[in-house]
Amino acid sequence: MDKIEITGGKSLHGKIKISGSKNSALPILAASLLTQDKISVSNVPNLSDIFSMLKLLESLNVKIDKKKNRIDLISSTPRSLLAHYNLVRKMRASFLILGPLLARYGEAKVSLPGGCAIGNRPVNLHLEGLGRMGVTFKIENGYVTGSIKGRLKGAKINLNQISVGATENLLMAATLAEGTTIINNAAKEPEISDLSKLLIKMGANIEGFGTKKIVINGVEKLKSCSYKIMPDRIESGTYALCVFGCGGTVKLENVNNEVCNHLIKVLKQLKSLQLKKIDNGTGLLIKKKKNIEISLIVRTKEYPGFPTDLQAQLTSSLLKTKGRSEIVENIFENRFMHIGELIRMGANLKQNGSKVIVKNCKKLKGAEVMATDLRASSCLVIAALMAHGKTTINRVYHLDRGYENLEKKLKLCGAQIKRVRS
Ligand code: EPZ
Repeated sequence: MDKIEITGGKSLHGKIKISGSKNSALPILAASLLTQDKISVSNVPNLSDIFSMLKLLESLNVKIDKKKNRIDLISSTPRSLLAHYNLVRKMRASFLILGPLLARYGEAKVSLPGGCAIGNRPVNLHLEGLGRMGVTFKIENGYVTGSIKGRLKGAKINLNQISVGATENLLMAATLAEGTTIINNAAKEPEISDLSKLLIKMGANIEGFGTKKIVINGVEKLKSCSYKIMPDRIESGTYALCVFGCGGTVKLENVNNEVCNHLIKVLKQLKSLQLKKIDNGTGLLIKKKKNIEISLIVRTKEYPGFPTDLQAQLTSSLLKTKGRSEIVENIFENRFMHIGELIRMGANLKQNGSKVIVKNCKKLKGAEVMATDLRASSCLVIAALMAHGKTTINRVYHLDRGYENLEKKLKLCGAQIKRVRS
């Protein structure tokens, strides 16, 4: 397994080209199952999660033509409507093929994704919503088998908890349903809007995406289109927090107004971090001013609140800041796996239930550490860049799931970082 070695203590100066959003690309690739026509998707990041989704789609008879960050997909009737455990367990978002398969073929057998390091990740909201659209499910031997005679039926669905994945599965299923579907308490993440814009380009009839009520009038067929994936707001936020932790000035390129406005809003409590939109919102200039004492309380929330996917990175970026901060994780039940590793580096952290208290640590020193999940691994990168001496991060396959060319991007900004292949 590859490792990453970082010698910390340097500030960052330079430019970083932000990649396309992983969490937008995954449902958009799954949406190719909704039509037999060609879907062309550009600005797709080269990440192991993307490759896992492509492998799963190929197993469902989707012809894939990939050239760098552009992918053409043509979905023909699969020999079997089975999404195998071996493919789904590697990448939970594989479960997003359920809605499209049921909408197109009226049946699907998908392995339950199971839990992961950050929580047990149930899928009850997906199944309850699809059940309201007429699907009957059987759950046995770790698989969920859904079927319906004829087309899905439009329905009024009240999600009792906001769920990005459930909103995406139901949204895709509803595009081909008979009649109107209303999704109440829908997730409002920008990635849902990106998916909706792709579906509308394919001929779907969708209103209200980006709000808590989405209305979809089903159509008979969807058609070919080309679409460019939005920039990755979590990758952008991760690099902004690298600058906050290490100091320096970095320009993020290939972002957009929505990503800039979101990060400016959710990072505004970091008084010594200046974020300035430039080049009509396609650039975001990030500058760390002199260190000042900061004590903040941050609670993770669904969009447009502080993203749970930046919680670990915020924690590590605060390790050398004077003051006492509280960070509360409200979305997942176990998203603190990084704390033990940060304490091994000398961090002054105290976890109390869903809260972590961050205080200034005397000396943050490099150490041998282990990544446990995707965002925990990027938090260890930030801590390593801030620490005195050398850090070796093990199990970087977690990092490769969500950050394209991370070492190259940081090296171009002056970081002393290299990958050790083993
Ligand atoms: C998406 O996961 C993202 N993944 C996650 O990003 C992100 O952390 C999460 O949304 C929250 O923003 C992708 O988009 C591929 P949820 P998802 O359904 O859809 C509970 C990353 O780091 N829930 O919004 O799985 C669930 O347990 C990843 O890039 C149910 O109870 O998240 C959680 O507590 C990590 N029943 C909460 O809802 C359900 O049926 C939010 O989960 C579904 C979810």
